[in-house]
Amino acid sequence: MSNNIESLQKEDRIFSPSPEFSATAHIKSMEEYETLHAQSIADPEAFWADQASSLTWQKPWDTVLDWSDAPFARWFDGGKINAAENCLDRHVAAGKGDNIAIHWVGEPGDTRDVTFSELLTDTCRFANALKARGIKPGDRVLIYMPMVPEAAVAMLACARIGAVHSVVFGGFSATSIKDRLEDSEATAIITADGGWRRGSVVPLKANVDEALESYDAVESVFVLKRCENEITMTDGRDVWWHEVTADVSEDCPPEGFDAEHPLFILYTSGSTGKPKGILHTTGGYMTGTATTFKYIFDHQPDDIYWCTADVGWITGHSYIVYGPMANGATQVMYEGAPNQPDWDRFWQIVADYKVTIFYTAPTAIRAFIKAGDHHVEKHDLSSLRLLGTVGEPINPEAWMWYHEKIGGGRCPIVDTWWQTETGGIMITPLPGATPLKPGTATRPFLGIDAAILDETGEECGPNEGGKLVIRKPWPSMLRTIYKDPERFKETYWNEYEGIYLAGDGARTDDDGYFWIVGRLDDVLNVSGHRLGTAEVESALVSHDAVAEAAVVGRPHDIKGQAVVAFVTLKEGIDHGDDLAAELRNHVGTEIGAIAKPDDIRFAQALPKTRSGKIMRRLLKEIVSGGEVKGDTTTLEDFNVVASLQKED
Ligand code: PRX
Repeated sequence: MSNNIESLQKEDRIFSPSPEFSATAHIKSMEEYETLHAQSIADPEAFWADQASSLTWQKPWDTVLDWSDAPFARWFDGGKINAAENCLDRHVAAGKGDNIAIHWVGEPGDTRDVTFSELLTDTCRFANALKARGIKPGDRVLIYMPMVPEAAVAMLACARIGAVHSVVFGGFSATSIKDRLEDSEATAIITADGGWRRGSVVPLKANVDEALESYDAVESVFVLKRCENEITMTDGRDVWWHEVTADVSEDCPPEGFDAEHPLFILYTSGSTGKPKGILHTTGGYMTGTATTFKYIFDHQPDDIYWCTADVGWITGHSYIVYGPMANGATQVMYEGAPNQPDWDRFWQIVADYKVTIFYTAPTAIRAFIKAGDHHVEKHDLSSLRLLGTVGEPINPEAWMWYHEKIGGGRCPIVDTWWQTETGGIMITPLPGATPLKPGTATRPFLGIDAAILDETGEECGPNEGGKLVIRKPWPSMLRTIYKDPERFKETYWNEYEGIYLAGDGARTDDDGYFWIVGRLDDVLNVSGHRLGTAEVESALVSHDAVAEAAVVGRPHDIKGQAVVAFVTLKEGIDHGDDLAAELRNHVGTEIGAIAKPDDIRFAQALPKTRSGKIMRRLLKEIVSGGEVKGDTTTLEDFNVVASLQKED
């Protein structure tokens, strides 16, 4: 990490937006940004109230922010709003019903264009089907879907009737589904027979069935027919999407819910073995995502926007469904893998749909670099005018490649820092204003009071590393960890009084630009996805052969970080030739493929402090450099490290 910081510090290339880009942008210059940002920080409530007023409210709010019960914020109290109405009805009412909402591309090559009117009708029908099965406001509904328009319909239909969705990424396993069902106490699931990924069918319904073998509170499973693969339907519980939507009315008036009515729970990894259910509510989240989408992606009416995330992650929630749709944006949605059938699939899609704004992850960019420029050069990417990245720090060389090869040297890149917890983008360039430097997310968004603090709570000076915090509440902030308000307080609000701790290390440079270094806790960032080391460890320990496990990350060219597991086995068990593969698959079954360790190292013992805590720091040093240089005075038995180094 420290080498990384040093190399980033040397970055002195600056890319200013072109006068043509700035001329039509929502925010046109750094002076304008500075003025607006200063005003928005002096009076955040005025700024956010102004933004919220561009949404449709069924009843205006009484108070903008109630922070009296901090850290439990209430935004727009007294207001009534429907998220789906804001994403759909109001565009249709404004005469934009025939605009395309989604240009959808299936992995096998099938395509569909869905207008806002059609999306509204589909959402109303499906909402009525949910109601007909007894789903009420506040009920939790788990969504486990491929990237098809119906995934958005499922989310919007829940929002429309006030049900709380919890989307589980289609790459997660049956055990992960079950854990999330148990925590959220969901009573319904929306899924599909399967989804296409890299030429194969992901057996979504079969995974749901397996999860339901040990969870019996689900009364309804709605199944979309996508891949026509063989599945089992359980009578009375499982219903086909196309059947339950066939005879229902398409009239489903959007009820106004309290601004603080829960919109969704999304599980994310933390530093314990149990994922946290991040709870977002309606009015503030919609305000945050709609505002950030408009300004950061500089959205204009004729843009064709494409975010390559999956709806199973926060990026898919905020910047495929709620933010873009609240703005009436036309977007591309793609079902499958970037290399199916070949590594030029994305560029083919950009050219086919004349995509103007493209938002992806650094890990994908590094994979494209590796696959070779010829895949890019085959296609006309001249429609692109703006690029974005999210999920992890982008290394300057990947930034330069993205800028030159994909952006043709003319497109600004918005490197957007945010989190599942923040709901929306927090630190980011504004593309018509901010001079860019490769590798930095630059400056806080309007209304966001970001800072870097030292251990004592003092603000760090330029180039001094510290902890990234947000000093004032913002509307799209998480409201709590579902059913665990104590963990919410302890994780985010205990370090500094009344200040949100992001869990990332960062520094600012001489221009006040924020450079994010990475997580400070035991959370890895694998291909832009958060993974708790404790989660992988508890998956490993749940295998019969394993006595103890310690998981750390090591730098990886494409994924950013790779997962390395140190494993000690129970007495009398030998690892033989197959156990490593078996353990990898076991983690795949317990969590999902992204958590499978890249390396499994069998060890006689793990390095521990005298109080018995595993010294992960030493293991990290072993996997990154092979040599342990740090302080080992608290180590119980130095021979353990010596032997691990030998095995290395
Ligand atoms: O460490 C930061 C990193 O991703 C974490 C949030 O992960 P998650 O909640 O899964 O959300 C990812 C998508 C918003 C952060 O704490 N991160 C995200 N974006 C960036 C980043 N690190 C550096 N630069 C970014 N642009």
